[in-house]
Order: sequence, then C-alpha cells, then structure tokens
Amino acid sequence: MRQQKLQELLKEMTLEEKIGQLIQVTGKVLKNEENTVTGPIENLDLSNEMLNKVGSILNVVGSQNVRKLQQQYLSKSRLKIPLLFMADIINGYRTVFPIPIAQGCSWDLQNIHIATRVSIQEANVAGTNVNFSPMVDLVRDARWGRVMESMGGEDPYLGEVYAKTMVQAYQGKDISKMGNAVACVKHFAGYGAVEGGRDYNTVDMSERELRQYYLPAYREAIEQGAEMIMTSFNIINGVPVSVNQWLLKDVLRKELGFKGVIISDYSAIAETVNHGVCKDKKESAYKAIMAGVDIDMMSDVYANYLKELVQEGKVPEEIIDQSVWRVLTLKNKLGLFENPYGNTNKEMEEKILRSKQNLQVARETASDTLVLLKNEKQTLPLNKNNKIALIGPYGDNIAILGSWSMFSDKAKIQTLKEVLEEKIGKENVLYARGSEILRQKEINQILIAEGENPILIEKEEQKEKEAIQEAIKVAKQADVIVLAIGEHYKQSGEACSRANIEISIPQQNLLKELTKCNKKIITVLFNGRPLALKEIAEKTDALVEVWFPGTEGANAIADVLFGEVNPSGKLTMSFPQATGQCPIYYNHYHTGRPHNKNIRFVSRYQDIPTESYYPFGYGLSYCNFEYSNLRISSHKISKTNPITVSVNVKNHSEISGKEVIQLYIQDVVASVVRPVKELKGFKKVYFKPFEEKVVTFEITLDLLKFWNERLEYEIESGEFRAFIGPNSRDTKQISFYLE
Ligand code: BGC
Repeated sequence: MRQQKLQELLKEMTLEEKIGQLIQVTGKVLKNEENTVTGPIENLDLSNEMLNKVGSILNVVGSQNVRKLQQQYLSKSRLKIPLLFMADIINGYRTVFPIPIAQGCSWDLQNIHIATRVSIQEANVAGTNVNFSPMVDLVRDARWGRVMESMGGEDPYLGEVYAKTMVQAYQGKDISKMGNAVACVKHFAGYGAVEGGRDYNTVDMSERELRQYYLPAYREAIEQGAEMIMTSFNIINGVPVSVNQWLLKDVLRKELGFKGVIISDYSAIAETVNHGVCKDKKESAYKAIMAGVDIDMMSDVYANYLKELVQEGKVPEEIIDQSVWRVLTLKNKLGLFENPYGNTNKEMEEKILRSKQNLQVARETASDTLVLLKNEKQTLPLNKNNKIALIGPYGDNIAILGSWSMFSDKAKIQTLKEVLEEKIGKENVLYARGSEILRQKEINQILIAEGENPILIEKEEQKEKEAIQEAIKVAKQADVIVLAIGEHYKQSGEACSRANIEISIPQQNLLKELTKCNKKIITVLFNGRPLALKEIAEKTDALVEVWFPGTEGANAIADVLFGEVNPSGKLTMSFPQATGQCPIYYNHYHTGRPHNKNIRFVSRYQDIPTESYYPFGYGLSYCNFEYSNLRISSHKISKTNPITVSVNVKNHSEISGKEVIQLYIQDVVASVVRPVKELKGFKKVYFKPFEEKVVTFEITLDLLKFWNERLEYEIESGEFRAFIGPNSRDTKQISFYLE
C-alpha cells in the first residue's frame, strides 16, 4: 500500500480502532486451540469489543489455524486491517535446533545462519510474521534460567556478531518474502543482569557498564535493520524499562536511531504497578505510551485506559497516532494489506516442516555445538567394537529439545539409546536408567507452580538403590560406560532460576557408584546453563557438554562419540568451580588486590580457586593443536597504521578438525578500569591432518575504543596487549602501543 493510502487509513480510524492496533493477546484468550501460553493470563480484563479490534496475536501457529483466525477477524473488522501473528521461534519450529547457548558454542556464523534460515522458513509458511528472537542479552550468571537463550553468552563481541547473523537470517532483504520474518530483538535492556540470577529481579548497573557490555548487541541488531524491539521486565536506573523514558526515548530512539516498533514483554506494563512506580494500571498505561512503547503485550492497560487518557487530554492523540503508524507501517512492509494471509502455505508446510534436508541441517548444527570438556587418555572417540553400557535418565529420553520447543513434534524424536543401537547393534548397547533426573519433591515443586497436582512420593530411597544396582549390573557387562545425565528440561528457561547449579544428588550418587566398576566413564551432559561440574568432571574420563541439542541431538551426539564428527565447540560462558562463584566471567576488571594464593588480604575465596573451572572459549578437539610464533606487524598502532597479529597453528594429529582461534585485547592503563582481556576477533579454521596454518587478525583503532571516564566512546593512548589462543585462559601475548 502506498504511504499516502496508509495515512488516509490512519485518519479514518476511530480512537478505539487505533488503540486496538496497540494490543496483543495470546491465542488462548481468543479461544484458539493451537497455541501455547508463555505467561500469566489470569488478570486480563478485555471486553469482547476490544478483542475484536486487537492488532496482533501471540503464539498462534499453523497455516490453517492462522488463516482461519485472520479470516474470522477480518470478517468483523470495519477497516480490514489484518492481524499480525507473532511467535517465539527460539531454536526452531518443527525442526528443533540446539538451544541458543549451544548454537553460540559453535562460533560458526555460517551454520548459525543456515539453521536460523531453516527455523524461520518453517515458521513463516506456518504463519509467523514476527519472531520474538534473537535474544541478545549478555549473561554472566548461570543461576539465571534464561542464559540458555543467549547465543553470545558472557561476551559483548560475540553478542554483536551473533545479533548481526540472526537479524540478517530472519529478515533477509525483504521481510515480506516467503521464508522471511521480522526479528523482534529482546529483552531491551540489561535483563541478563538480574540480581542473584533470579528471574524478573532487580537490575542495577552503572551507565558505563550498560553501554560497554549490554547495549552493543542491540546497536548491531538495529544497524542490521531489526524491525522490532521488546522491552525487558527489569528496572534500569530505578525505572522499569517499559516506562523508562530515558532508555526508550533518549537511548533507543534518539541515540541508537531505532525507528521500528517497540513491544512490551508479557504483561510488563501492568507489572509496573507491582514495581511501585505507578499507582494503578491507568498510570502505567500513561507512562508506557509516553515512553514510546507501541504495543502492550498481554496486559489490559492500553485497552482499558488509553481512550480515557486521550479524552482527558493527558495523552495527546498524536502520540497514539505515532505508535499506530509504526504498527501499520510494519504490516504494510510485510505486505499484509494486499495479502492478509502472508506466506501461510499448507503445501509448503507439508514439504518443508521437518524435511529430510532440514533434519540434516539440524544434525550438522548440533554436532557443531557440542563441547568436549575432558578427554583423558583419549577415551573418546569410541571404538565401534565396544560394548556400551548406556546409563542415566537421558539415555532413553526424548526431552532433549529445551524449554522453547513448544511447536516441535516430540513424538518423532530419536533417543540416544535408539541411535546407538542403530549404530553398533542392539546387542552392543546395554541400557539402564540408573536414576531419575530429580527427586519427586523437586518435580512436585515444578508441578505445583504449573498448577498441576503433585505426585505421591513412595519408597523413593529404595527405588533409587534398586536403580543403581541395576545400572551396576549392566555396567559390569560392558567395555565402557556412557552416562547420560543433566538438568531436567524444566530447570532451564524462563522462570527457572536455580540457587544451586550442581547436578542433582541422585545422579551424583549414580556416578559415584559407577566409578567402583573400574570401567571408563564418558559423561554426556544435557543442560541449559553452565553447571558447577567439579564433582562430576573429576569422576569421569571424558565429558561432553551437549546442552539441549534438538531434534537431531541424539544422532549428533553419536557422530561425536564415534569420531565421525570431530568436536569443535567452545564455551561462551565460564563454568564455575561452585555456584557461589556466580556471576563469573572472563572479561572481569582488575582489582586492587589481585588473587595470590600466598597472600591473605587479596581478592579470593578461602574455599575455592578464584578462576573458573572451565574458562570462556574453552573446548577440546580430537586433534591436538599447537600455537606458536605469535608476532605483530608493528608494535606501534596509529590511525594510518592498523596492525596485524599472527600466529602459527599446527594440527599434530592424523585426523582433520576445526579450531576456533581467539584474539583478545587488553588496554593496560586507562582512565577507567579496563577488563583483564576482551574478545576482539575469532576465526573457525579447518585443518587437514598435520596441517599448519598462519592465522592473522587485523587490529584497528575501533577495537580499542571504550566508554571512558566522561562516558565518551573513545580510545586512550598507551600500552595494549594482544592475546591469541584456543580459549580465554591459555593464550600467548604480545604488546603494542598507541601514541
Ligand atoms: C518472555 C519473552 C517472550 C514472551 C512471549 C515472555 O514471558 O519473557 O521472551 O517472547 O513471553 O512469549
């Protein structure tokens, strides 16, 4: 539709019709069958009249379902303004990819691009116009359940490159084309810094911290043309983001130049009353619209109060018009006025959802994300002639998709047991469950929070003992033990904060008993966050972090266990020594009293080391890579003289493999404290057997900028150090200077 016609349409709209465009509800509220609820629905108070006018719908999917709803809606709509369908396609629609934190561990932009394309192609033909992804929140605290949604993990540079990759992959060059959709970048901003890792909790940080670490990924997403941004639940500088004028107007709109649609998170506007910054819902509607939030997701405050506020002259109608204009413009860019059914396409759904090709992409993506954390005496890869004891609650379990996999077809997931049996024959895979993931008491707590009835606990201790005995019996008959344990899938994701991030007691007990069998133990870990793994790691010979690997996860794991794929994943979050170390991140500041184990009054813990258990960037390969001859093109850098650092990397093995070579920089002295090192580049490089390569990085002045004492983004002269290595800890270093 032409701009002029769109303007005419806006003029023709009544105030109620305009307000309708600024409201989003879930399909459940409209009694739609095929949808999932992702937050509270109890407190919603919307009249039928308003429901007939809402502008967008949340988490209704399926081409036929979407078409039906759109048709019903339009038949009642005076001006025939189509609905927008938004959904959470976080790591796949029917074909489920590894959870985002896992995908991030691949450091493989091409693979992530391909996987993201598949996700959005599947979702788009099934009716999704807007995807609530990527989440680009920086995360440092593994207690927070939502770290599983962060691709960039604890690093702002990775956050930026992934934000770019994802937005490009979702939106393509034209958001109206089949297979593309709007990227809604979330949760703006600072949501990853909730205190104590407790979801929805307070965030309090300096403006420098916000700008230096938390905003870069957003800036990048906006530069890539992301059309929508979701506000976060938390406060920034004392004010909940959904009513925070400084953050939304001064920073997001003016400074970052965002012109698209701002949507609140689920019922976040109404929740500002609970925060105690609005005396009632009417005030929250006032503050949110004045701060520039265009769409109210799942609270009734815009629906019930905006009209009154305009009639009382408190909210100028132009403000409403500006928000409605942004929503109409987006619908127009999607081509919905010409074709309200968008790219919904039943034949395409049948053809591409979970197609063979898509499953293959899922398998390749998944094997790329696994992180080999330990491999003593080359326990892995496994020999196909081995008899395997597959033990543990994840050995024969389909719940390996992660918490945002609500649109997948779980019935079609293969378990690790099935895949191993296919690979080496049923007779060579001996299976025992060995333990439950959680004790019933813990499961009951989850069930009660979900409004379900708790399950009666009976003879649990005895059952645990019997399960372990059975596992030992099985282990004794095998050559090697593959132990598949981890977190319950309901322990990670939204509202899944944990105060103790160790593996559960029954699973620890199981491992303890298995060590007595004197067999090699390979632990395969399913989880959505870094865990405190010390106890587990020390008791196993090999440890593979597989996260929640998605639809083809079991195949990908088998590919890696048998060496058909050489693991190349590297951690994007530090793994702590103990929960008490959280938040822990490699790019921390210098303290005035750096750690030294021989001195008492220094910054350290008495009971555990200061450094992480597995550092950021860490991950092993079946190859043995050696780094040597770090060199620099010049020790002096200037505007006219960008420099390069190079290193030789040699594969000392007779197999090929991939290595993520990482560049870090440190600003040695500056006007404000700078981190000990910061990632500034990486390359994922393929090596043939015994191949040696020279890997070079360019260092430009841009990489040296930071938010200085006066909160300006500048460079300061002096000494810098460049580090190159296979992770953030084991690096070689060289100095250079800026005059
Ligand atoms: C989450 C968002 C999500 C939204 C819609 C909220 O509870 O915080 O990430 O996109 O629900 O499902």
